[in-house]
Amino acid sequence: MASVEYRHISKVYTDDTRALEDLNLQVEDGEMMVLVGPSGCGKSTALRLLAGLDPVTEGQVLIDGKPVNESPPQHRDIAMVFQNYALYPHMTVRDNLEFPLRMMKLSRMERTKQVEETAYLLGLSELLQRRPKELSGGQCQRVAMGRALVRKPKVFLMDEPLSNLDAKLRIQIRAEIAALQKRLGVTTLYVTHDQVEAMTLGDRIAVLNGGRLQQVGRPQELYDKPDNTFVASFLGNPGMNIFSARLNSEAAIVDLADGGWQIPLESLLAQKPQMKQYLDRPLMAGLRPEAFSTQITPSAEVVVEAVEPLGHERLVYFTPSDTMSGSGQETLVARLTGLPRERVGESFRVGLDPTRLCFFNKEGEVIA
Ligand SMILES: Nc1ncnc2c1ncn2[C@@H]1O[C@H](COP(=O)(O)OP(=O)(O)OP(=O)(O)O)[C@@H](O)[C@H]1O
Ligand SMILES: [Mg+2]
Repeated sequence: MASVEYRHISKVYTDDTRALEDLNLQVEDGEMMVLVGPSGCGKSTALRLLAGLDPVTEGQVLIDGKPVNESPPQHRDIAMVFQNYALYPHMTVRDNLEFPLRMMKLSRMERTKQVEETAYLLGLSELLQRRPKELSGGQCQRVAMGRALVRKPKVFLMDEPLSNLDAKLRIQIRAEIAALQKRLGVTTLYVTHDQVEAMTLGDRIAVLNGGRLQQVGRPQELYDKPDNTFVASFLGNPGMNIFSARLNSEAAIVDLADGGWQIPLESLLAQKPQMKQYLDRPLMAGLRPEAFSTQITPSAEVVVEAVEPLGHERLVYFTPSDTMSGSGQETLVARLTGLPRERVGESFRVGLDPTRLCFFNKEGEVIA
C-alpha cells in the first residue's frame, strides 16, 4: 500500500493539447479517491501519468513520497482496470486470474493460494472453470478487477470500469467495489464522469474541469459547500440552482432571482458577516433543489414549466413570475415531496430555506 502525490503536474500532448494544468493532489494510504469531471477534463490523463504510460510535461508524481517520473510502469507496482477491459477469451477464469502471477514467476502453490483468495473475495470461486464467454457482464468485470488485484498492487487505478454495464448492475458492482476496496485497504484512484458514482464511492472526490482541479474534499463537503459554481452545478442530480442575487443596502433587503424572493439584509449579514463587502454588487446565489419547499417562507409566485414525477418525490421546473425587471429568467428546479399540486403553465408559491443559500462572486467563486 502507498500514498500518491501529484505535485504541480502539467501535461501537454505533442499536438499542444493542454490536458492538465498545475495539478496538486494527495491521495492518502488506503484511500479511495474519485476523479470526476466532464469528458475531456483530464481524468484518464491523470491516471496514465501515475501508471507511467505517458510522461509528465512538468511537475513530479510521487508514490510513497518517492518521485517516480523516471521509473517505467512495471516498476511502479500499479494495477489498472479500464472501461474496455479485455479478458483472455481462450483461458478459464482461473487462468485469467493466474496470468499476472505467472509473469511474476511465483511458485505454483503461491499462485493457487492468491488466485483462490481473490476469487473468494470477488465471489468468483464457483466460476473458476468457466471461460469469459460463459460469464455475465458483471462477472466479467469482476474477473477483470480480480486480475488487477491478484498481485496485490500498491495502487489500484480504475478508469470508468462500470460504463459498459446496465444501470442495475452498475449499482450492485459499485457497492461491491466500495466494500472490496475497504477490505483490502488498497490505495485507489477511481475515474468516472458520473457524479452519483463519485458521491457514493469516494472517501474524497477531486473535481476536474478543463484540466484544472476545481475542488477536492469529502463528498458531503463538496455538495454542501462548493468552491465555485462549476462544482455546485456539476454535483447533484439535478445540480445546484444558480440565480442572481443582490444585497440592496437602500431597501435593506436581499433580492434573489431578480426579486423573486426577498430576505431581510440584516438577517443575512447576521448569519454571514463577510457578505458586508458585497453590498449593491451583482452576485450569484446557489440553492439545492431540495432547499425549496411549499411549506416555508420567504415564498414567491412561480410558473411551472415541467414536472417530473420520480415516485417518492418530484422535480418541478419553474420560473419566477413576479420579477422586478421581467428579464429572461433561467429555469429553476425544486425537489418536492407530498401531494403534487403543480400543473404545467400554472403558477404556485414556492419558498426557500435562506440558511442553505450559497453566494458566489461574478467570477463564480464562493464568497459565503
Ligand atoms: N494522446 C493524446 N494526444 C493528444 N491529445 C490527447 C491525447 N490523449 C488525450 N488527449 C486530450 O487531452 C484532454 C484530456 O483527455 P483525457 O482522456 O484525460 O480526458 P478524460 O477526462 O478522461 O475524458 P473522458 O471522460 O471522455 O474519458 C482531451 O482534450 C483529449 O482530447
Ligand atoms: Mg477518460
